Amino acid sequence: MTDPVVEWRQVARTYPGPPAVHALEPTDLTIWPGDFAAVVGPSGSGKSTLLNVLGLLNQPTAGSYRLDGVATEQLTPAQRAGVRGRRIGFVFQSFHLLNHRTVLDNVALAGTYDKTPRATRLARAAEVIDLVGLTPRLGALPSTLSGGERQRVAIARALAARPTVLLCDEPTGNLDSARSQEIIALFETMHQAGFTIVMVTHDETLAARARRRLDVLDGVVRETERVRP
Ligand SMILES: Nc1ncnc2c1ncn2[C@@H]1O[C@H](COP(=O)(O)OP(=O)(O)OP(=O)(O)O)[C@@H](O)[C@H]1O
Ligand SMILES: [Mg+2]
Repeated sequence: MTDPVVEWRQVARTYPGPPAVHALEPTDLTIWPGDFAAVVGPSGSGKSTLLNVLGLLNQPTAGSYRLDGVATEQLTPAQRAGVRGRRIGFVFQSFHLLNHRTVLDNVALAGTYDKTPRATRLARAAEVIDLVGLTPRLGALPSTLSGGERQRVAIARALAARPTVLLCDEPTGNLDSARSQEIIALFETMHQAGFTIVMVTHDETLAARARRRLDVLDGVVRETERVRP
């Protein structure tokens, strides 16, 4: 029996206001190792709230959340930060790269919070840079890369710390359709390599490639049944 990566029981988040906003209504959610889930819904429906609660950036205001079997409610802020750093990889719409550092450094500098030796970090960085197809640009600065290439660096950086789950908020939001296609293909590759991915997207093409689909409307999360390919 494999254990779930994420187990939510009636997890909710309300912003106090006034007026109070029930951004995430009480939700049961299980994410299994190797899942590839798309989170879809209109603006303001609660997608980023869901992702930020998953990523321990925001705390639920109700319910229980186990991540890799760890009851997250019981963690101190420092422990939460540690669990987040080790188990969660984030990819955002804007790439947040260090502009004066090379591709290799941007990826290798991820996870400097832990005690991994520099040589190990460089070796892991080179591995994930290869996975995203950027080995030829290892020494390049982000300003000399295309938008799609920059997002691939951001994805490599998120993977470098070997997270349990990769959380992506609109990963193709700043890319044209050709670059978006590259990123979609890359997510497929990562899914096939066994990574667990939860991705917020407005892009129906991207959502259609995921194996699970969660529709969010007014903070209510509903899973659409899908025939698995
Ligand atoms: N810090 C906050 N304080 C109060 N309300 C908030 C806060 N963050 C988000 N909200 C509200 O919670 C609701 C859900 O917001 P959320 O950012 O999760 O939406 P979203 O689905 O990601 O939208 P978008 O597609 O525009 O990014 C919205 O009504 C928003 O105004
Ligand atoms: Mg959002």
